[in-house]
Amino acid sequence: MTTQTVTGLKGKHLLGIADLSAEEIGLILETAEAMKEVGARPIKKVPTLRGKTVINLFFEASTRTRTSFEVAEKRLSADTLNIAASTSSVVKGETLVDTALNLEAMAPDMIVMRHASSGACHLLARVCKSRIINAGDGMHEHPTQALLDAFTIREHKGRIGGLKIAIIGDLLHSRVLRSNLLLLGKLGAEVWVAAPPTLMPPDVERFGVHSTTSIDEAVRDADVVMMLRIQLERMQGNFFPSLREYFTVFGMTEERMRRAKPDVIIMHPGPMNRGVEIASEVADGPYSVILNQVANGVAVRMAVLFLLSGASEGDQL
Ligand code: CP
Repeated sequence: MTTQTVTGLKGKHLLGIADLSAEEIGLILETAEAMKEVGARPIKKVPTLRGKTVINLFFEASTRTRTSFEVAEKRLSADTLNIAASTSSVVKGETLVDTALNLEAMAPDMIVMRHASSGACHLLARVCKSRIINAGDGMHEHPTQALLDAFTIREHKGRIGGLKIAIIGDLLHSRVLRSNLLLLGKLGAEVWVAAPPTLMPPDVERFGVHSTTSIDEAVRDADVVMMLRIQLERMQGNFFPSLREYFTVFGMTEERMRRAKPDVIIMHPGPMNRGVEIASEVADGPYSVILNQVANGVAVRMAVLFLLSGASEGDQL
């Protein structure tokens, strides 16, 4: 890896981790450290994005991502608008492009979008002048989730390169997996993925990861275990016999966690299916950093908004 210094993001948008260099990822994570410090102050607000307008356009359900973007925007003093597809003219048949162009007519600076279709954010970036931030597009990417995951790993382990990271669950339908594989590969982690054969993406090894159908092999001596949700809403057909059997073979239990390193951390992007991919004792137990991930989502999203806004390095935080 080169040790080139970067002071900004070369792209105008954040559409995926695929477009970021390792240096740009490092810059976002370092900027997020400063943003986390803002969030620890008695008055958690800086004027950096005063006068900027950000629209949060969510065509799919979200708790963590939508809320943390809004908190991040407010902490940076941006003017924010939240639009859910269910209360917009999308329900009357308006297209994505027409919706975006009409919102653009009100001159926002940035649009944060979640959409069920892979590539929807790329489409918006082609037709809009605003900066587009991908908050999850279909089964393609969820870049800010991977960035906050990396921030959380670095916070607990001090590094990412050389760590054994096991990612387990419904890999086939996961945009979080793809963004994490791209990011962790760029930062030099040793990544293991585990899933039943029916939920394993056929081309996963092209990301340079080890794949297995044995959860125990993936977890053995792991520094980090990341569990992914069974995405029933994206499944057509039967991918496993029953949720109970899935938990028996692929659910994370305390007993299975004991195969990992003693200082392992357990992560989950949420929402969790307790008793399906993860036991409550693990989700709420001493290894869990799941709520730290949520807290760090605000700082990381502040960093992304800041770096894409055109605010300069010297701007006061
Ligand atoms: N991790 C995540 O994207 O959660 P939400 O769907 O609640 O935003």
